[in-house]
Amino acid sequence: MKETSLVLVTGGAGYIGSHITLSLLEAGHGVVVFDNLSNSSAESISRIEKICGKKPHFVMGDIRDKQALSNLFNRYHIDSVIHCAGLKAVGESVKDPLTYFSNNLVGSVTLLEAMARANIFRLVFSSSATVYGDSPNMPVNEKHPTAAPTNPYGRSKLMVEDVLRDLATSDQRWSIATARYFNPIGAHSSGLIGEAPNGIPNNLVPYISQVAIGKLKKLQIFGGDYPTPDGTGVRDYIHVMDLAQGHLKALHAISLKNGLNIWNFGSGKGYSVLELLDAFENASGKKIPYDIVARRAGDIPKCWANTDKARQELGWRAEKNLNDMMIDTWRWQKNNPTGYN
Ligand code: NAD
Ligand code: UFG
Repeated sequence: MKETSLVLVTGGAGYIGSHITLSLLEAGHGVVVFDNLSNSSAESISRIEKICGKKPHFVMGDIRDKQALSNLFNRYHIDSVIHCAGLKAVGESVKDPLTYFSNNLVGSVTLLEAMARANIFRLVFSSSATVYGDSPNMPVNEKHPTAAPTNPYGRSKLMVEDVLRDLATSDQRWSIATARYFNPIGAHSSGLIGEAPNGIPNNLVPYISQVAIGKLKKLQIFGGDYPTPDGTGVRDYIHVMDLAQGHLKALHAISLKNGLNIWNFGSGKGYSVLELLDAFENASGKKIPYDIVARRAGDIPKCWANTDKARQELGWRAEKNLNDMMIDTWRWQKNNPTGYN
């Protein structure tokens, strides 16, 4: 198949970026992955090739490195950028805010400057539902005011969103999609690529699957007294392959119109921790021991998306259900007990 365009995926060796890279290759795009491998392994790139028979170009580098970006844009005729590179651990961001602002904010600005110098004005940015904060009204749509985030990670995402808004206003050539992810989970159905967190996972699904594989003893459920049907936190879990398809649709949409676009990427449904646990146990046949402990600082009771805008403007909706997400998570974890190592 003739390559339809060449897309740069920053952070393309990571969890979400690797699934986006695969989907782009399968749709006939060429892909350049640019990643410093600070939280990933080049093995994910080899696995992508195993799945689809095509290999992305891979350049190891840091988005804060002006010269490396300049070399990259000189070497490849890139049409558009999907910007996933960044750090994402909330707790770590509280302990080390400068590293977060450096990677997420300075890195994004450095990338945008390099894009403008290379006359590339099409961008999809990995943002987060975190920017909505703790809203009493669910589901949240894109018009919902953004709130003051409770940690440096969230602030870095909101700051980049502000930069993108100002940029789109300042120069009509920019064509930008701010993709607000809800809770991406799951893995490609091959079981060859998936989420491989370093150390003890912060997020619920990788934690549960590491208990199931025997690496961790017991799940701690943070809070059983939230104002939710069963008292545990409710989130909008979205299959990572649905999220990847959303990026393809967003990329196409911004190739047709300029300016700033914001889209929610969620399933539109909220599930509690206990509901998710139940679904995982059904899919894996494993019993997950747990304790209900105190709430985790900074957590909100509930959050799920209104996805009408993405459906109307992109013709996109999440197709996979919670059982699909759990089956794919478990296949990945079972086949790769130590991640990519
Ligand atoms: P990930 O850590 O698996 O992937 C991020 C990738 O970026 C990694 O491969 C890492 O090595 C790379 N990277 C980090 N800093 C870099 C730098 N300075 N230069 C070059 N590469 C760098 O995380 P992920 O879950 O795939 O997240 C991808 C994006 O989506 C992130 O921006 C994250 O903030 C955002 N996001 C993730 C979630 C989630 O729950 N996973 C939710 C909302 C938003
Ligand atoms: N939880 C537990 N035990 C754990 C981990 C999580 O009970 O060991 C609970 C949390 O309290 C929450 C739910 O499971 O109720 C989901 O927690 P995650 O840590 O998996 O996800 P968050 O909703 O806290 O945050 C995630 C990403 C953020 C992103 C946000 C919105 O980690 O980066 O989704 O997109 F901003």
